[in-house]
Amino acid sequence: MAYSLYSAIPKKPLNSIFISSPNFIFSTVNKHIPCVTPSIFPCLGGYCTWVSAVSSSVAETEEHLNRHASPGIVAKEYADLNLPERFSEDVGNLRIRQHVNPLRRGLMIPAEAPNWKEVFEDATLPLMVDIGSGSGRFLMWLAKRNSSSMNYLGLEIRPKLVTRAEYWINDLGLKNAHFISTNAMVSFQRLVSTYPGPLMLVSILCPDPHFKKKHHKRRVLQKPLVDSIVNNLAHGGQVFIQSDVLDVALDMRNYFDAVPDKLVHIDSVDPSLPCDGDGWVLNNPMGIRTEREIHAEYEGCKIYRRVYKKVQH
Ligand SMILES: C[S@@+](CC[C@H](N)C(=O)[O-])C[C@H]1O[C@@H](n2cnc3c(N)ncnc32)[C@H](O)[C@@H]1O
Repeated sequence: MAYSLYSAIPKKPLNSIFISSPNFIFSTVNKHIPCVTPSIFPCLGGYCTWVSAVSSSVAETEEHLNRHASPGIVAKEYADLNLPERFSEDVGNLRIRQHVNPLRRGLMIPAEAPNWKEVFEDATLPLMVDIGSGSGRFLMWLAKRNSSSMNYLGLEIRPKLVTRAEYWINDLGLKNAHFISTNAMVSFQRLVSTYPGPLMLVSILCPDPHFKKKHHKRRVLQKPLVDSIVNNLAHGGQVFIQSDVLDVALDMRNYFDAVPDKLVHIDSVDPSLPCDGDGWVLNNPMGIRTEREIHAEYEGCKIYRRVYKKVQH
């Protein structure tokens, strides 16, 4: 099936771990301890190279990650896309915050659903929605691979990333990818419920961790979004979640594990996606890693993944 997750890609050996990252120590001591570091490394924020909430341009943020984490490997992973180095100058120059507070009043207004026939060449195709799509490269890579069989929608709260993603998809001539700048917490239901085709895959990949307990309510996955995903997903549709922060991954997992009458975990129906002893899917099932995933694995962090399938009992 065109919308099925891809078979697992082989994991590369971690032969070039970024030693200067303090997370390396944690991840070698116990694979199940997330790469959390005390904030004595101000430029490293919480863990791996999560950048703390500093103001920086998109370009500066990416440069920071490249300098401190994984030079060139994102470009290498997405080399197939052959994206132009240049992009809208607006994106490069405007300053954004690394972490956005999605509960800010101005971000609580749901996005209007677009005319789907205008944004996709064939608006009846199965849909994948990536919540918190970041730069959008991950979704573009998939859209290019499956240009006639699936549509891809990225929901991203930071408008400048969406501006650049739209610039790139025009440049690539992709007719099956679209990005909307919105708070997915408040817009997901309205957007997906108006889409004419079946919703076959929803991904939430390395969402912003919002470490402090009092900020957990800012995490993108909350009960209303879980309900909306589960209710709108077509039968046989899948949910793919992952994080390099165990606490965040567990938070998301608990929500989806709590609806066993509607969702089963993939290892019970598809032996090609094996799990470790704690039920985390061992390998990336998409054939391409997200940018956050690339950086985290480069630093030796474990990625905690779950893949669910909607079933009819
Ligand atoms: C850590 S990045 C991960 C990006 C990408 N998924 C990856 O794995 O590389 C999380 C992304 O989610 C976006 N985001 C955070 N809260 C959001 C929300 N409520 N709605 C939509 N996007 C959100 C952030 O702006 C950021 O681009």
